[in-house]
Amino acid sequence: MAIDPNFEENRDQEGQEHDVDVWGPTDPPEELGIRGTHVAVDFDICIADGACLEDCPVDVFEWVDTPDHPESEIKANPTQEDQCIDCMLCVDVCPVDAVDVDPGRAGRI
Ligand code: F3S
Ligand code: F3S
Repeated sequence: MAIDPNFEENRDQEGQEHDVDVWGPTDPPEELGIRGTHVAVDFDICIADGACLEDCPVDVFEWVDTPDHPESEIKANPTQEDQCIDCMLCVDVCPVDAVDVDPGRAGRI
């Protein structure tokens, strides 16, 4: 299952955590939702592959600890999504399609 590119319509924003928007539902530690808006990572799909962190030319992502999540205990958090230049590398390299980037989504101000 890939990240839902229409999550803004299909989910409710539940505030912010680790400096990015949180799109529910969430039920931590097992269910963490989608994180970020312009650059969005589905934390419930991310397996901590790390390709997005390695390949992003402007270092949008940072590891965040997610202890006891069933897929991985760290996740790629799009902390610097406002720096994104829409190169789409992260979308292409993620092996589980956990990332979606949409220049039309404004994201965190
Ligand atoms: Fe980086 Fe992905 Fe944007 S690789 S520049 S966060 S499209
Ligand atoms: Fe996670 Fe995919 Fe990045 S699995 S760490 S979002 S490449």
